[in-house]
Amino acid sequence: MGCSSSSGEGARADRTWTEWLGGPALAVLGGCSGPQSALDAAGRDAERVAELWWWMLGGAAVVWAIVLGAAVYAVRGGPHGERRVRWLVIGGGTVLPTVVLTVLLAHGLSLMPAMLDDGPEGGVRITVTGEQWWWRVRYETLDGRSFELANELVLPVGRRTRLHVRSADVIHALWVPSLGGKIDMIPGRTNVHALEPTRTGVFRGVCAEYCGLSHARMAFYAVVVDDAAYDAWLDAQAAPAHTPDEPLARRGAALFLESGCGACHTVRGTEADGALGPDLTHVGGRRSIGAAVLDGGAASLRRWIAHPAALKPGARMPPYWMLPDDDLAALAAYLEGLR
Ligand code: CUA
Repeated sequence: MGCSSSSGEGARADRTWTEWLGGPALAVLGGCSGPQSALDAAGRDAERVAELWWWMLGGAAVVWAIVLGAAVYAVRGGPHGERRVRWLVIGGGTVLPTVVLTVLLAHGLSLMPAMLDDGPEGGVRITVTGEQWWWRVRYETLDGRSFELANELVLPVGRRTRLHVRSADVIHALWVPSLGGKIDMIPGRTNVHALEPTRTGVFRGVCAEYCGLSHARMAFYAVVVDDAAYDAWLDAQAAPAHTPDEPLARRGAALFLESGCGACHTVRGTEADGALGPDLTHVGGRRSIGAAVLDGGAASLRRWIAHPAALKPGARMPPYWMLPDDDLAALAAYLEGLR
């Protein structure tokens, strides 16, 4: 079971073949690997989904071959007696689909109990809330610490971890194809979804339920780390924001409060305690800005602050393009320094 593409130098005939089939083959096989592929499983549940997918593909291939064979036989097989035709219809039209679909259904259902296992209770409580159009992620540790971040989920490898999944507005769905199945995020309800990563790495998650204008720009990163790195990360995230010492960033920190950013955003350790938008206490360490619309970093922060709606139509954050370039640079330098 697996998926791969091959390349290499060959004779002219090979190159022609590659030229003909290379594009479509790449398009098809491109879905077999990468940080957002359900077939490149990095989680226990994703392995089960991938296994079922290969069984379905095998079943579909067998049925397709039989149907094609029957069609060829019907056209070329010469005169067909009524009795033989009746048996073909009953066998191919009733018995075969019943057997094939029953086997596939039974196999699919047999995988479900393990996937519905919520994992052990206790441990760090993680709540993910779907917003328009980003992910509010809250961690509460056993020793009573809690913090929020956005558009990034950090999980320990090898442990089945519960996510408590909610929505602040409309129905969203959380899906990290490499790690497991989907779960709906429904207003007024908390669903529990467990993920059990089997290897470390950075995987991409998406919103899998149409939720409005920027549904397709609502992604996040799931970062899987070992236990030691997970504990260190929890400690770092629970700490208050770094106080800038570099002049440009200090000016940015003052501007952040003067411009009213704190009405919507929290930076723990400062006066900014807004709850409408993402918590920015450690925004400088995040892999993306705007729910994976931009890579992390000062340049992205600056673009986002000036033109959020151009990057994400319908985004609730007001634009600040009217700020002088120096001010935008100062704000970006401050936020980028919040690691
Ligand atoms: Cu959120 Cu689609």
